Amino acid sequence: MQQVILNNCDKAMPAIGMETVLSSRPGADPLETMKSALLEAIKAGYRHFDTAFIYQSEKPLGESIVEALHLGLIKSRDELLYYEKNLHLELQLEYVDMYLIHHPLRVSETIQKLPVPKEIIHALDIKGVWEGMEECKNLGLTKGIGVSNFSCKKLEELLSVAKIPPAVNQVEMNPIWQQKELREFCNAKGIHITAYSPLGAYNTIWGDNRVMECDVLTQIAKSKGKTTAQG
Ligand SMILES: NC(=O)c1ccc[n+]([C@@H]2O[C@H](COP(=O)([O-])OP(=O)(O)OC[C@H]3O[C@@H](n4cnc5c(N)ncnc54)[C@H](OP(=O)(O)O)[C@@H]3O)[C@@H](O)[C@H]2O)c1
Repeated sequence: MQQVILNNCDKAMPAIGMETVLSSRPGADPLETMKSALLEAIKAGYRHFDTAFIYQSEKPLGESIVEALHLGLIKSRDELLYYEKNLHLELQLEYVDMYLIHHPLRVSETIQKLPVPKEIIHALDIKGVWEGMEECKNLGLTKGIGVSNFSCKKLEELLSVAKIPPAVNQVEMNPIWQQKELREFCNAKGIHITAYSPLGAYNTIWGDNRVMECDVLTQIAKSKGKTTAQG
């Protein structure tokens, strides 16, 4: 798989990764469903995984590493690349590979539901938090540090105080929302963009169906004998 070299992380990043959010669907056991999906992904060659405290996927991710080692799917934890946002309480790892600020904002209470109520959202102390991120890297708790959901303006603010520039900015990006200005900015500053919600967060509360229902994309996919998601 294609690898990406990052500005503050020694470990190259596989360009395609798997994001994880624990499903709340009725019926299946969400922990077991996620663990088996993760093991299938490792078998299929995925080596880059992304989690966050709020996704409730740290525990199954940690357990999937133990299981993958036990089954001989990987020889060591170092073969996998783990991205983490917020706290990593249950990952069972001595370090993560990339630690991200999830959003350029601070919440005054634990998030219980989405959308996040406006009254608990506050401005982020970018300088103070980034100093903490730099300390995490210097202590070896993470190999690299980065951000998520940062605009050009927020990145400029961060770059003006950072001793270590962010390696990545993880943002929503897909054919309908191509982030041209942000891509050009990040390219010029050596910050790698990773894209989430490639299908436009189809059928979710934060996204919409414009990617999956886009006529042009459907026609392109059909002409190649693929579904819109595959295309
Ligand atoms: N950094 C951030 O702030 C942030 C924010 C949002 C999301 N994320 C990450 O991005 C990841 C992906 O986000 P997302 O779920 O919004 O992304 P998405 O991939 O754009 O949308 C997922 C939706 O697409 C559907 N889908 C997936 N594969 C499909 C296929 N082959 N055919 C038809 N439909 C398909 C799924 O349907 P089914 O549910 O029916 O399978 C699901 O509803 C999340 O897991 C999360 O970790 C990060």
